[in-house]
Amino acid sequence: MKIGIDQIGFYTPQYFVDMNDLAESRGVEPAKFTIGIGQSEMAVAPLTQDSVTLAANAALTFLDDEMRESIDLVLFGTETGIDQSKSAGIYVHDLLDIQPYARTVEMKQACYSATAALQLAKGHIALNPNSKVLVLASDIARYGLSTAGEVTQGAGAVAMLISANPRILSLENDSAYITKDIMDFWRPNYSPYAYVDGKYSNDQYIAFFNEVWEQYKGKANRSLDDFAALCFHLPYTKMGLKALRTILDETSDANQDRLQQLYEHSTTYGRKIGNIYTASLYLGLVSLLENSETLQAGDRVGLFSYGSGAVGEFFTGILEEGYEEALQKDTHRNIFVQREKVSVAQYEEMFTERLPEDGSEIMLSNENDPAPAYVSGMKDHMRLYTRK
Ligand code: HMG
Repeated sequence: MKIGIDQIGFYTPQYFVDMNDLAESRGVEPAKFTIGIGQSEMAVAPLTQDSVTLAANAALTFLDDEMRESIDLVLFGTETGIDQSKSAGIYVHDLLDIQPYARTVEMKQACYSATAALQLAKGHIALNPNSKVLVLASDIARYGLSTAGEVTQGAGAVAMLISANPRILSLENDSAYITKDIMDFWRPNYSPYAYVDGKYSNDQYIAFFNEVWEQYKGKANRSLDDFAALCFHLPYTKMGLKALRTILDETSDANQDRLQQLYEHSTTYGRKIGNIYTASLYLGLVSLLENSETLQAGDRVGLFSYGSGAVGEFFTGILEEGYEEALQKDTHRNIFVQREKVSVAQYEEMFTERLPEDGSEIMLSNENDPAPAYVSGMKDHMRLYTRK
């Protein structure tokens, strides 16, 4: 039985800052941000959007009543959740009106957890072929104003429906994975900002990729020639390219060109949004599928997932016949069309705004937020959510 991604949608808040403006304000050569890092724009979340609402809005790009009735597992991958105890998935389960007889949990392992969720979903469908699983990946990446990591922030979510006989990508079974205890990036409970050893994290990302790639080739008895395209976790668009370049000489010049061209398509959306941690790899996949004109049904796509701390996994899928029709290309295009550019000063103001942390009450208007699901306030230490 084929199991895999039946639907995939993303959401990003409607505000963004231009990287040329940010570079100028930080006294940096703009080419460092746009070429050296590879980011053109960075999504900025207003107070009315958090990881819960971003995930709900991503799922609303494709969810219908039949799916609401058949989803019996909701897995929410995030590293910017809103509560230490209650799962962010429960709020989304409610906002989306999913039938009540479902399991719902939040998962964490930096940017890797959505991949763990995907693999768990696959096992669940293998045992329950009529079920559907909603996998959510949602984050708001914050390193702090004027830090080296600032240029690699972002906000957004990806939602995926996992089922038997999927319409988009069926997952294969020979993935390779690795766990090692390293301190390249972490965020203690008391800090709203991530701590990072930037250069070390870059090196570890590549080392993990090389290790799982070697392991995968042995395990699956395949080579780079067996792949139409590779997608990478994209903390910034240059990062995946650095990893890809380490293995390109394993294939012909023509294949190298094709893989690099398709890599560019996988970065089109991320370049305008930034790092969305758990969702970044999957945003890259949507971007690839919606922007490539050469991919075809039957093509094999490889995916490298990396979550600092760290876990790495290389896994693969095969594009299904008619996959193009199952994509949400127009909806996604409209999300970008609706976006509004903000100045660096406006971004800084939004970045420092916080919901009350002392139990006091706040009611938020959504007049500037077109998203269907939004944070409508906070009362007695509880976030209030509304769906239009
Ligand atoms: P930095 O020190 O500001 O930048 O930090 P740099 O000096 O290394 O320069 C970056 C690139 O710009 C270099 O290119 C420069 O040559 C180039 P490279 O050598 O890397 O190819 N450059 C220029 N290019 C054109 N014109 C110019 C110019 N000037 C310089 N004028 C760093 C960059 C990414 C380290 C920093 O932003 C950071 O710490 N970011 C956060 C950490 C991160 O994203 N790590 C990635 C791997 S870890 C990961 O992916 C996991 C993560 O998503 C977290 C999770 O799992 O939850 C982060």
